[in-house]
Parts: sequence; structure tokens; C-alpha cells
Amino acid sequence: MKNKFYITTPIYYPSNKLHIGHAYTTVLNDVYARFRRMQGYETYFLTGADEHGLKIEENAKKANMTPQQFVDKQVEGFKKLWDLLQITNDDFIRTSEKRHHETVQHIFDNMIKRGDVYLGEYEGYYCVHEESFWTATQVGEDKLCPECKRPVQKASEETYFFKTDKYLDRLLNHMEKHPKFLTPISRKNEMINTFIKPGLEDLSVSRTSFTWGIPVKANPKHVTYVWLDALTNYISALGYSSNHEELFQKFWADENSEIIHVVGADITRFHAIYWPMFLMSEGIRLPDRIFVHGLLMMKDSKMSKSRGNVVDPVPLVKRYGVDALRYYLVRETVFGSDGQFTPEQFVERINVDLANDFGNLLHRSVSMINKYYDGIVPQYKGDITPFDKELRELAEQTVKDYEAQLGDLKITEAFISVFKLISATNKYIDNTEPWNLKKNGEDEKLASVMNHLANALYVAAILLQPVLVEAPSKLFDQLGVEEDLRDYKHVYKFGVLGGQKVNKGQPLFPRLNVEDEVEYIKSLMGDN
Ligand code: MSP
Repeated sequence: MKNKFYITTPIYYPSNKLHIGHAYTTVLNDVYARFRRMQGYETYFLTGADEHGLKIEENAKKANMTPQQFVDKQVEGFKKLWDLLQITNDDFIRTSEKRHHETVQHIFDNMIKRGDVYLGEYEGYYCVHEESFWTATQVGEDKLCPECKRPVQKASEETYFFKTDKYLDRLLNHMEKHPKFLTPISRKNEMINTFIKPGLEDLSVSRTSFTWGIPVKANPKHVTYVWLDALTNYISALGYSSNHEELFQKFWADENSEIIHVVGADITRFHAIYWPMFLMSEGIRLPDRIFVHGLLMMKDSKMSKSRGNVVDPVPLVKRYGVDALRYYLVRETVFGSDGQFTPEQFVERINVDLANDFGNLLHRSVSMINKYYDGIVPQYKGDITPFDKELRELAEQTVKDYEAQLGDLKITEAFISVFKLISATNKYIDNTEPWNLKKNGEDEKLASVMNHLANALYVAAILLQPVLVEAPSKLFDQLGVEEDLRDYKHVYKFGVLGGQKVNKGQPLFPRLNVEDEVEYIKSLMGDN
């Protein structure tokens, strides 16, 4: 079992403002990082910005700025968004930083020295938007980028090529031997069938047509291809090849560290094929997992600024709170599959899961403990009513399922498990009918029911902490949970609560008016 974790998001292009598709990737990474930290593991969580390339150079020109000024401004916006979403990244790497340049130049030099790259002539078609070269077959008769369908430009330039055939067998072997290396499994098949089987060409890894990039030391009229540049962020941020390699040694070189790259389906190819080859060339071990998530769609097509169908996460957080958006992103779409954002489903998720099932359960429990026991949670005395055992066992099982699921990046499934416990706790109230126990003077049973209720809610709230960053502590305040009992280690033993003084508080999630809110969210959709 690994005992350290290094998790990364892709680094985002600062060409546009970020939308909820980007927030999706970062929030799910954050949930995982918080989970591992909560368990007590050393965890390093990285995000950043991918700042070079022709598109940025062009956008900066349009904005009348230097590329550096342009990316500085954009990155400010990124950081504000991550603060708003309470993202707990340990570092923010920018590819325009010196530390990054040095690592990239070091690697490129080594590639030349080892004979892994060679100078040649590239003839093909270039898509500025995707920063990708395509062959004549790929762009077809219409000469459109196969990825984004924009017109491509014919390009021919001197370039360094990376020899892919040198490492291909090793890569295939590695994929074969490590079934978790690239998941979901369908992504692995897709990579093999779409890119490897038809014949993988050598990859052009330098450009001479623009200057906003990292110069190749041995031949400075070349700048490093943005993808070789960008992928290297995962190790430059850890100080690889610098005088301070401590983080690299700890979170990458050490086999006890689990290295996880989370990427969107559109960039799998770079992470699953080329990045491992670059690492092999450099003699560095490969990441343990490349986890590919699906894309959030709107109106049946990928959310993208240029298509004018993006949703800005900022007003959603301002109106509904950080927990509502984080929960929606985690829960609505199974991590690994594609999903579709609709205002109706967004409002419904908050109302049903958060306001009704979770928030209202707390409200009912606190009210009953107030009414029947003067606000003091009765002591745990084992299972008394016929329904107690079932609830306790479910809570215990939920902890196990949750750990196994989250640990395996089945993030949505893990929170479905927690909400099953919450639903079962609601049902437990219906089954035990505390009001009748009171009426019939069955005090022992009533006390047990109040205790089980408080303890089940406590377990759920502890487990929800990686996704809900505000509500659990409010819940603990209302249930009177002391500070030291808020630690994750207590979750394994059912029945830790008893004797606390509950405090009536505000509803955790006020119920939303569906019609009004759907209308509001619709007004945010579009090209904003
Ligand atoms: N800069 C590259 C990544 C380099 S990593 C070494 C890049 N940047 S990006 O800003 O275009 O996209 C970053 C991530 O956001 C990608 O994983 C992409 O899949 C994800 N998403 C962009 N739009 C998305 C959705 N609509 N839905 C889900 N994820 C989305 O690619």
C-alpha cells in the first residue's frame, strides 16, 4: 500500500476565462487530495497554468499586451476562482516560471544527447486552437482540424522529432502489466486502437514559427513544443533537476508515493502515450495512474467559450454557496463518464440531496433531541430497537465502501454510498417512529434512536468533508461535537457521540424555488 500521494490537474490554458468544465476537473482532484489528507497521508496536490504557445501570443497581441502581461492577468483570475472554490492545491505551477524553463531545457538537452530527438523537416497542417499538427489524412479534403473542426494552416518547418518507436513496446508492455495505469479501461483501448495500431509517427517537439515558449538550449531558434513543455510541469513543480529535489524525491522517485494524473478525455493521448515516453527517455519512473474523466456538455456539445455555451462557476458559487457547486460537480456525473449540465438538474440536486435528505435530517434530529432530551444527546448503549443494528452496520459498511471507492478514484460512487446512509437514516426515523416511543413511555428505545440518529449523521458528515467544505462544521456545531471528535480517526467506531449539547441552527441548505432558480441559471448560460 502506498503511503504518500501526488495528484495533479492538467494545467489550464490562460487564453480564456475558466468555466465549470475546468472547475469540474479541479474540484474532483481537490476532493481526492482532501480525502487523503483527512486519512492522515502526506499528500501533494498540484495545479497550474500552461502559458506558452502561438495562441497565447496571438491573444496577447489582440489585447495589446505582452504575452507575459497577458498570462499574468489571466492567471490572477484562475487563482481567484480556486480560492472561491476552496481548492487546497499545495503549489501553482506556471510554465513561464524560471524553475519550469530550467527543467524543460534540461530534459530537451538530454533528449538530444541520448539521440531520442533528431532534427528534421515537418510538413503538415497546424491547428492554432488545439496547438496540434495533423497529417493530410487527418485533416481530410476540407482541411479541418479533426479535434475542433476549425480550418488548419499548411505548415512546413524545421523541427526536432522525438523517436516514438524507441519506447513504444515498453509503453505497451507497461500498460499490459499495470491495469490501473490508464483507466477507465475503455480509454486504454481507445488509445491503442486510434493512435497506436494505425502506426504512431515520431512527434514533432519544437517550433520555429513563434517565440513565446522555452528555447531549446542547443538550438535557440527552436522553442519547445507546448505539449512537451506543459507535461513537464508535473516534475518541474517538484524541483526535478534543480538544486532542490526534495519534493521530487519524496513524491515522485519514491515508489511508496502514488502518482495520479487526472485528465479530461480530450487530452488523454498526450498523457498516456507521449508523457510516459518522455519520462522513459529521461529515465524516470512512470505515474501510477492516469485517470480520464468525461466532459461536461451543454446542449449536446462540449462546453467551450468559442461555441458560446459556457457556464461561469463564479455566480453559481456566489448564489448557492461553494458546497452546492462542489457537491453538484461530484455527484451529478459519474467520474469517468460524460455528463450534461442542466439548470433543472442543478437545482434538483441541491434541493433533494442537500436541502431535503441531508439538511432536513439534521434539523429533525436536533429538534427531537431538544424536545425529548432537553438538547442532550443520549449515551450510546448498543443496539436496542429492532432497527438499530441495521443502521449501525450500514454506517460501518459505508465507511469501508467509501474508503475503497474514493481510494480507487470512484469519487461519485463514494458519495452515493454516503447518501445511501443518509437516506437510510431518514427511513430509520419513519421506522422507529420516535413520537410513538415517547407517547408510549419507551424511554430506553427512544434514547437509543436519538443516539443512533446523531451518530449516523456524524459519520455522514465526517465522510462528506472532502466535498462539502462548509456544511460539516456547521453540522458538528449543531450536534455539539467537540473539536477533537471531528477528527477522521473517530469515524471507524460507531457510537462516539453521547452527552453532547445540541444547538438549534440555521438550515444547512435552504430549499430553492425551482422555477426562479432555473430562470436565473439560464440567464447565466451563454457567452458570458
Ligand atoms: N493546457 C492543456 C493541458 C496541459 S496538461 C499538461 C489543456 N488545457 S485546457 O485549459 O484546455 O483544459 C484543461 C482541462 O480542462 C482538460 O482536462 C480538459 O479536459 C478540461 N475541460 C475543459 N472543458 C471541459 C468540460 N467541458 N468538461 C470537463 N472538463 C473540461 O488542455
